[in-house]
Amino acid sequence: MALWGGRFSETPADAVFALSRSVHFDWRLAPYDLRSSLAHLSVLKSNGLLENSVASAIAQALHELQNEVASGKFVAIATDEDVHSALERGLTEKLGAIGGSLRAGRSRNDQVATDLKLYAIDYMVEVAQQLLALQDALLSKASEYGDAPAPGFTHLQHAQPVLFGHEIAKHVHAFARDLDRITDWLARTAVSPLGSGALAGSSLPLSPELTAKALGFTAASANSIDAVSDRDFVAEALFISSMIGIHLSRIGEEWCIWATTEFGWAKVADAYSTGSSIMPQKKNPDMAELARGKAGRLVGNLTGVLTMLKGLPFAYNRDLQEDKEPLFDSIDTLLLVLPAVTGMVATTEFDREKMALAAPMGFSLATEIADYLVRANVPFAHAHEAAGRCVALCESSSRQLHQLTDAEFAAIHPELKGDVRDVLTVHGALASRASSGGTSPASLKEQIKVASAANEKSKREFHAKAVAFSEMMGA
Ligand code: ARG
Repeated sequence: MALWGGRFSETPADAVFALSRSVHFDWRLAPYDLRSSLAHLSVLKSNGLLENSVASAIAQALHELQNEVASGKFVAIATDEDVHSALERGLTEKLGAIGGSLRAGRSRNDQVATDLKLYAIDYMVEVAQQLLALQDALLSKASEYGDAPAPGFTHLQHAQPVLFGHEIAKHVHAFARDLDRITDWLARTAVSPLGSGALAGSSLPLSPELTAKALGFTAASANSIDAVSDRDFVAEALFISSMIGIHLSRIGEEWCIWATTEFGWAKVADAYSTGSSIMPQKKNPDMAELARGKAGRLVGNLTGVLTMLKGLPFAYNRDLQEDKEPLFDSIDTLLLVLPAVTGMVATTEFDREKMALAAPMGFSLATEIADYLVRANVPFAHAHEAAGRCVALCESSSRQLHQLTDAEFAAIHPELKGDVRDVLTVHGALASRASSGGTSPASLKEQIKVASAANEKSKREFHAKAVAFSEMMGA
């Protein structure tokens, strides 16, 4: 049933209906649409725009629809255009013409913006909770390997030894920034479009501040034209999702490399691996690959919405209907990928021996020689040069740094004494990186402690937000 038939002498062509129809994807807004309808109803009632008996009948029908939508008893049908028209059909089926009374003072333009904001808030809080679970898994892996030396890389070449726990813990901080972004986004998104009408506000006495409050927003919009046209909250949610996806893709890439035969560091659990249909021996890290691959669609969704918004005239244009599928897809994607990556991280075991053997390879202790000379007051440029000559000598004579003779060290630089070998150990190199955030065992312990406390605090905050939201939905 169309909501706008009055001035038309023809019904829409099939192709028109097919292209404009959105109910097959916007149906998931139904619970939010019903909740905001209840808020709208209560201001219509308290401001004397609906008689009490009519208002109670509508309230009861809306509550029935909430249950019927949840149980699947009420669903959209082929002739419904979008979620709003489907639900109005539901109301009129129950109440006759008074079912259309809720349209007073409201347009689908402020309605759809409100519904989509509520949906986005609800699900971004869920995404945050999944991120917190992933942080948990990363933090316990980081502690488990908090004493395991491994090579650290730049340019994918051995650079300096690190603790493997330090390597794992770095991801926790990237996700902490994503969580901050969600918190900031929630604060900016908490402005209610409801009451803005089609674009110009309403001539009826509505109370946008009251509906805003009832729906858990902190304020009503200050400009009705902006309110119905603003999709910044969608674009920003898609950016945050893309950033999360990119962080996940970097974990995925790392896991793929670490699981190669050449590295042989990671033993991914069978439950998080897949096989090959032709090669019986194969065990592939498909979860890591999908985590890497899904970043593409997340960025695609962001790009699609930004491009749709660019140069769009004000206020509402039907282009805006294209905001929903990308948002839904990005959220669905994250809610699929995050638990799988969390499980993969939690169940992967690493080969301590292999990593420890690899740690000093590739002359990764050369910086220790330079630092040793700096402690003997040699300017760093000279120290760097001397350490480089040690490496060159080792390379040309197939030796490791600690195997150079005292005479060879002294010939390279007079300040290079035999005791330089004391710093040419992985253990010594790790322990010496005691700067805050560095790779020494003590620094890593402190880092994990602080990050775990932040994770716990964030868990309490997002849990409180989830509870408040579900109480608002049930009110
Ligand atoms: N299904 C529409 C959307 O998602 C609802 C708003 C329609 N408004 C309009 N003026 N045609 O954007």
